[in-house]
Amino acid sequence: MIHLNKARETPSTRNFLKPNDLVMLRQGVGRNMHTRLTILMISAVMVTGVLFGGTAEAQTTGAQTTGDYTTVWNGIYTPDQALRGQDAFELHCLRCHETDIDAANPDARFRGHMFMERWREYDLVSLYDFIRLTMPRRDPGSLSDATYVDIVAHVMMVNAFPPGPRELDTEVLQSIQIEGKDGPMPLPSGALVQLVGCLNQDVNGAWIINKASEPARTNSSNRSTEEEMTAAGSKALGNQRFRLQNIEFLGQEFEPESKVGYKMQTKGYLIRQPNRERIDITAMEWTGASCR
Ligand code: HEC
Repeated sequence: MIHLNKARETPSTRNFLKPNDLVMLRQGVGRNMHTRLTILMISAVMVTGVLFGGTAEAQTTGAQTTGDYTTVWNGIYTPDQALRGQDAFELHCLRCHETDIDAANPDARFRGHMFMERWREYDLVSLYDFIRLTMPRRDPGSLSDATYVDIVAHVMMVNAFPPGPRELDTEVLQSIQIEGKDGPMPLPSGALVQLVGCLNQDVNGAWIINKASEPARTNSSNRSTEEEMTAAGSKALGNQRFRLQNIEFLGQEFEPESKVGYKMQTKGYLIRQPNRERIDITAMEWTGASCR
């Protein structure tokens, strides 16, 4: 994900549609987003062993057992559909992505570990939109919606998510979460994320965001939409702390001094490093609320 920084020289170059950077075309987030985020935070508690507010008591063992939203583990495509998708993939994608789908390649990006690190905690419409809007590379959008969905089904099969009785279709994509067998996990380094937290300076004067919520995936590094800001306004603060990297990128008109102690909607690339968790910031807006 290091290469993402290359596209950051100016605000105008940074927000172009890049293969690794989805554009937020979809309005809004899934109905169950709140539930998912809650579960995500609970998972984070389980993983880090940090307790807050007694919520650990409410912990679950992940999506499969909660039954209140659908995941890739719930049998969301049929074998026939995946085979159609395989044919389409071979015809339209294989020439550029042979190594990405190759079972013998541990770094294949469309299967196994690499696929999960890139796509977990997104919903399926994010993967579908990415493929539909940017692939095949020189001719994006050239296939029918149904064929793109079949290709997604093929990727599901390649990743050993179980098939089921019903074909995948465009209607349900948004309600299906990509996640590991044990449910949602904290996001990996390099993920494009959003969170709410309190803007502050540490003892050395470095800008930080504290009392931050668990970082969640976002499809866009741009300034938040009205809808995203509404969601940010009602999102609870958490107990995470991140250093903010490249805050000057936000430009002259953003004066961090004037927002100290306020609850901020924050987007950027997550950089995981023990005791030095950072956000390489791309956008920040005031939610209208104070942290005090
Ligand atoms: C002409 C070559 C070409 C064709 C054909 C092509 N792609 Fe790609 N694809 C690329 C390139 C180049 C990238 C960006 C690689 C990178 O990020 O380094 C990419 C990236 C991707 C990614 C993102 C990978 C990741 O981990 O971020 C997906 C998913 C993808 N392609 C799917 C497809 C699918 C599905 C098809 C067929 C419908 C397809 N591509 C056809 C060249 C191609």
